[in-house]
Amino acid sequence: MRFLITAGPTREPIDPVRYLSNRSSGKMGYALAVAALARGHEVTLVSGPVAIPAPEGTKLVRVETAREMHDAVAGEIGEADAAIFCAAVADYRVAEIAGEKIKKTGETLTLTLVRNPDILGSARSAFGFRGILVGFAAETEDLERHALDKLRRKGCDLLVANDVSRTDIAFDCDENEVAVFFRDGRHMALPRAPKGEIASAIVREVEKCASAVAGLSEAGSDVETTLDRGQ
Ligand code: CTP
Repeated sequence: MRFLITAGPTREPIDPVRYLSNRSSGKMGYALAVAALARGHEVTLVSGPVAIPAPEGTKLVRVETAREMHDAVAGEIGEADAAIFCAAVADYRVAEIAGEKIKKTGETLTLTLVRNPDILGSARSAFGFRGILVGFAAETEDLERHALDKLRRKGCDLLVANDVSRTDIAFDCDENEVAVFFRDGRHMALPRAPKGEIASAIVREVEKCASAVAGLSEAGSDVETTLDRGQ
């Protein structure tokens, strides 16, 4: 299969020396790329700025901002059979990037932020993606409710939910513990383990999902053939 994976944070410039970002290290997304490659898949990795090297064998597309990530995904997703959106995309960017370094003047400084495009949310609607779609959710409370809501709203087949209120897993850690929610209502807990193991388990679930879809469409084409033959 051909996998498209987004990873890392995005960086939204404020002025020539400052930016808005988040604590994502890219480790989970890069682990997914390694796991998919190890299982014989092709991988395109659309990555925000991270400090880790890209796994050998991936097609790496480097981006900085959410809008750059959006455009890179729009350009690559047509080739993909599965898309995993693991990046921690900044939901907002500053309305106007200052051309010069902002000097301190008053006691407070107000920045106006505007919404960034929702890349995962665009996959089905704007990009017309028909493959297996996997979203991530970083939550600090009410994990299941938020995860199920995101899964439905964004048209995902799988939604991987992280509890980011914990300091021992998820952001910038080598281990993770997640719950995977499926479109058909099933869910599965992946207990605390190195991100590589969690990644392999997710890639296997994507493969299963793809086989189930392929099985269904094969069954569909059998019906058509039978009908074509007038039987
Ligand atoms: N995501 C994305 N583009 C964005 C924001 C998020 O592609 N602009 C993707 C992330 O990569 C992740 C999923 O959407 O797979 C969930 O992101 P999150 O920010 O938690 O979801 P939201 O729907 O934006 O919900 P909220 O911020 O309200 O929790």
